[in-house]
Amino acid sequence: MANNEDLFKKIIAHAKEYGFVFQSSEIYDGLSAAYDYGPNGSELKKNIRDYWWKAMVQMHENIVGIDSAIFMHPTVWKASGHVDAFNDPLIDNKDSKKRYRADVLVEDYMAKIEAKIFKEVAKAKKRFGDSFDEKQFLETNPRVLANQQKIDNIKNRLYPAMDKDDMAAIKTLIEDLGIACPVSGSKNWTEVRQFNLMFSTQMGSVAEGATEIFLRPETAQGIFVNYLNVQKTSRMKIPFGIAQTGKAFRNEIVARQFIFRMREFEQMEMQFFVRPGEEMKWYAYWKEQRMNWHLSLGIPAEKFRFHDHEKLAHYANAAADVEFEFPMGFKELEGIHSRTDFDLSAHEKYSGKKLRYHDPELNESYVPYVVETSIGLDRMFLAILSNAYTEETLEGGNSRVVMKIPPLLAPYKIAVFPLTKKDGMPEKALEIMNGLKSDFMCFYEEKDSIGKRYRRHDAIGTPYCVTVDHQTFEDNTVTIRERDSMQQERVAIDKIAGIVAERLRAKL
Ligand code: GAP
Repeated sequence: MANNEDLFKKIIAHAKEYGFVFQSSEIYDGLSAAYDYGPNGSELKKNIRDYWWKAMVQMHENIVGIDSAIFMHPTVWKASGHVDAFNDPLIDNKDSKKRYRADVLVEDYMAKIEAKIFKEVAKAKKRFGDSFDEKQFLETNPRVLANQQKIDNIKNRLYPAMDKDDMAAIKTLIEDLGIACPVSGSKNWTEVRQFNLMFSTQMGSVAEGATEIFLRPETAQGIFVNYLNVQKTSRMKIPFGIAQTGKAFRNEIVARQFIFRMREFEQMEMQFFVRPGEEMKWYAYWKEQRMNWHLSLGIPAEKFRFHDHEKLAHYANAAADVEFEFPMGFKELEGIHSRTDFDLSAHEKYSGKKLRYHDPELNESYVPYVVETSIGLDRMFLAILSNAYTEETLEGGNSRVVMKIPPLLAPYKIAVFPLTKKDGMPEKALEIMNGLKSDFMCFYEEKDSIGKRYRRHDAIGTPYCVTVDHQTFEDNTVTIRERDSMQQERVAIDKIAGIVAERLRAKL
């Protein structure tokens, strides 16, 4: 594989060249950490969203969807803890003028020590071969133990400082570790300050009478505040879930890495309401379900891993991330959190309204516990793009870039070509496309050689190309070419829909 940074740059360039993702407001030199999805990108994004919705809502009789407003009553964010605690510690380097998340600087420092441990393990694996016992090595090798001790010491200072909002202690830690600005190499740091990530705006026409409201930083609160409305109107019995997809906004301190960390992004979230005491069972269930969803797309299992949180948010009693191997390494793609009754209890307290569930089986009323699954749609999009991007050398020395997007998610499913622009072939090709387009996103192309048209569709991930040629007029057949294998088959026109539909069937 090419150097990962190069690969990432190629993916970003490809995403722009083929109409997947553009920088927002590009003609004005762009707006940082905001992106627009082009024609192919918006199709792919919609298909990911639909596939998630299908898995969560359509496949579970006890999950229903909602679409709540982005603007919410400001007290919602007080109750949820976002006004007081949705902060990141920021620090500036006085020489480079670059801004960083102070905790991330320390975490990156720990990751470098961890990388040394991985290196030791890899070296030892090579040396000892089959007889290598990784667990024993990790527990006894002096260099590994010394490095692990360093990491533990740092954690023991960082996490309590974060919990206590002790910004001075974080600054001292950065100084003690000798962490330098990655850009300038300078250690000339400002103090560490807390920075709230919510965007605010004014609602109301007169400045004096206007209320400060926030752009939601997560879609989850729209679910919590509607919990009773939905439970009653849908006649749901616990355990049940509420799903929603929609925009969320965070004024990220450091927003980089393309669509991985944006200031405006989209989430797909589901809150699953359960009996108190049963949350761990459901937490395990949803961890497994969500991993199966990722694997159902045919992406190799080794690209995913769980990262169980050691440090839990104050409202959680268990939390894990599904991490994906992006070009810049394994990073969080989705979070699965056992959120206890924190949110509903807080909304009860702040709203003065009862948010209880009367459990007919127990004949008892309680505030339900919640297990949440929360995935960033844009991050999932990036995972799909980075897994799909493939450079291949073909026979005869030619090469192609093919986006091996899971066919179910591909922007177009079928491209229809006439071999040439004459002899009635365009009319026949259009007739075939018109017969298919109510069931599949189709694309008609007659310009350039067939080879060039194949390359263009490889580059956007179209799984099937259908070509009308002279034989079509003799026996009503066409060639159908499959994207990944490049194999062509001759099939009857009335078989095309069946072949494509079979390949697109969801494996949920
Ligand atoms: N309701 C829980 C919640 O919002 P989170 O871990 O803060 O949890 C959930 O966010 C998911 O949203 C993340 O796993 C990630 O995929 C996505 N996400 C969070 N911040 C993001 C950002 N700035 N840009 C893109 N995606 C983001």
